[in-house]
Amino acid sequence: MENQDANNIISDVRRRLDIVEVISGYIPLVQKGKNFFGVCPFHDDTNPSMSVSREKQIYRCFSCGASGNVFTFVQEYEHITFREALAELAEKAGISLPNISYHKKNDSYQKFYEVYEIANKYYLNNLQTNLGKKAKEYLRNRQIDDSMIKEFGIGLSLETQNDLVQLLEKKGYSLNELNEIGLANENHDLYNGRIMFPLKDLSGRIVGFSGRRYDGKKENKYVNTKVTPIFQKGSILYNYYDAREFVRRKDQVIVMEGFMAAIRSISVGVKNVVSLMGTAMTKEQMSLLKRLSLNVILCLDGDDPGQHATLTHGEELENNGFHVKVVELSDGLDPDDYILKYGSESFQSLIENAINYGDYRIKSLKKNINLNSNEEVSDYINRVLLEASKLTDEIRRELILKTLAKEFDIGYNTLEKRLSTYLEKNRPKQQVEEKKVLLKKAEKRTKYELAEHYLLYFMLENGTVRNYFEQGKFNFSTEQERFLASEIVYYYKLYGTLVPADFYTYLQDKKELLQLLDDVLTLEVGEISNKMIDEYIRVVKENSVNLEIERLKKTMKEKNDPLEKARIAEGIRKLKMGSE
Ligand code: UTP
Ligand code: MN
Repeated sequence: MENQDANNIISDVRRRLDIVEVISGYIPLVQKGKNFFGVCPFHDDTNPSMSVSREKQIYRCFSCGASGNVFTFVQEYEHITFREALAELAEKAGISLPNISYHKKNDSYQKFYEVYEIANKYYLNNLQTNLGKKAKEYLRNRQIDDSMIKEFGIGLSLETQNDLVQLLEKKGYSLNELNEIGLANENHDLYNGRIMFPLKDLSGRIVGFSGRRYDGKKENKYVNTKVTPIFQKGSILYNYYDAREFVRRKDQVIVMEGFMAAIRSISVGVKNVVSLMGTAMTKEQMSLLKRLSLNVILCLDGDDPGQHATLTHGEELENNGFHVKVVELSDGLDPDDYILKYGSESFQSLIENAINYGDYRIKSLKKNINLNSNEEVSDYINRVLLEASKLTDEIRRELILKTLAKEFDIGYNTLEKRLSTYLEKNRPKQQVEEKKVLLKKAEKRTKYELAEHYLLYFMLENGTVRNYFEQGKFNFSTEQERFLASEIVYYYKLYGTLVPADFYTYLQDKKELLQLLDDVLTLEVGEISNKMIDEYIRVVKENSVNLEIERLKKTMKEKNDPLEKARIAEGIRKLKMGSE
């Protein structure tokens, strides 16, 4: 019942708003025929590849494939959760949201969030008591003052083994639950004697902790919450939630390694920063970055692992459409050390003068070569030219050639010639790759797939076709299509009508179905005639007969009994006749 109410409110909000007007508030749209077009904000583009349909109340980008309804647009654009987008749009629509739960998924983890809140409050308090004196002193020595403690929610777990577990047990949580939630280990606290840094998820809720030793011992410097259903280190970025606004203003995100570095940077006013919490960067973290901005400044630690990670992450990011700049920190310092040593102004100017990743790469090539070896030098020059050939900026290429010519006393023309051979090599490859992407996006559906997609489209609009499906007059060949078809039927039974934009929201947790729905909705369908319906059903049936025949042939091969073989052969013959 609760979900039913929630769904009604969601579609009420959706219905009172026009997607064209909402999206126009973010990007300029121009009408062309039935649809509106604009430059897609979800990928790096200058062409109007995003189309917005007033009729269907959905948008779709033909270049990057982003699609959805008003909720998903606002969610993606503002980097907020569904809940937040709903609240924002409800306000716009003049609908007040009653305090009901509308997100099934959140409910089951409500307990996790609550416990983390309680634990965090407890840790915060510990730090302010007498038992927190030593920890406070440690923080003060590291120049983390009270306002920072408050801003970042820094707390303390006590030396004792069981205080948090006991507290939570008193509040009615069982040991089993606490183990599952990630705050207990067997029958005792997971952390003891550590300074606690809360870690937030994408919606700003505390979902884990990182606890730092402060007794000077080096081993196990940090202990992180183990993997739980709501926490995985590689699925979040430290400070993601709080950085969003600052990143959007600058359209630029600074990526650091440690969260202490992020905390320091924020405290001196550089706030468009997130941290990886280690040198590794996962695919998930990369897509989170993409949601923030395509302009990344890598500001990892200045030590060897940091430099190595800068090279690999920079390449990975560039390959994924980011524009990457690099800040190099001297003497193996991390941003925290650097700011404490040289001050915030010096740090800010480092950020402002970050160099392009391509240049960083070229610079780093030079680090380990022996300038007295002709072989190494020529190898180096070749590698630099190869890197230069990847740059799109001609001026930068020319500058590189000039520098090389001067530095190694080599003819400019010789270098240019070599560079152009590399440029030649790159060019056709790039074109082929572009073509491949286009091909992938172009109509690649087989005749049968197309027919099934048309029938799904018809089912969205046409009661007769839905009845045919329910009566078993035709069926789909894949499980996903069958699943989508039954969702359509079910949705009609529930609401009596279907607007694609609402159906999107209804399906939002079923990503595979959304993809399929997208494919279906790209079809250009005019008036639906009985003739079309019959024709597509015929094609779909032909396909299922073919598939059945194939299946029978396979079983026939596996059988040894001649009688059985004959019986299957007879079945195949009948099927073939029936389909003629
Ligand atoms: P660093 O070792 O660079 O720590 O690890 P740091 O940020 O400089 O911290 P301080 O200044 O020594 O207190 C970078 C990040 O790697 C993760 C943490 O998230 C840390 O912020 N890390 C490091 C761990 O998860 N466990 C560890 O034992 C060490
Ligand atoms: Mn540090």
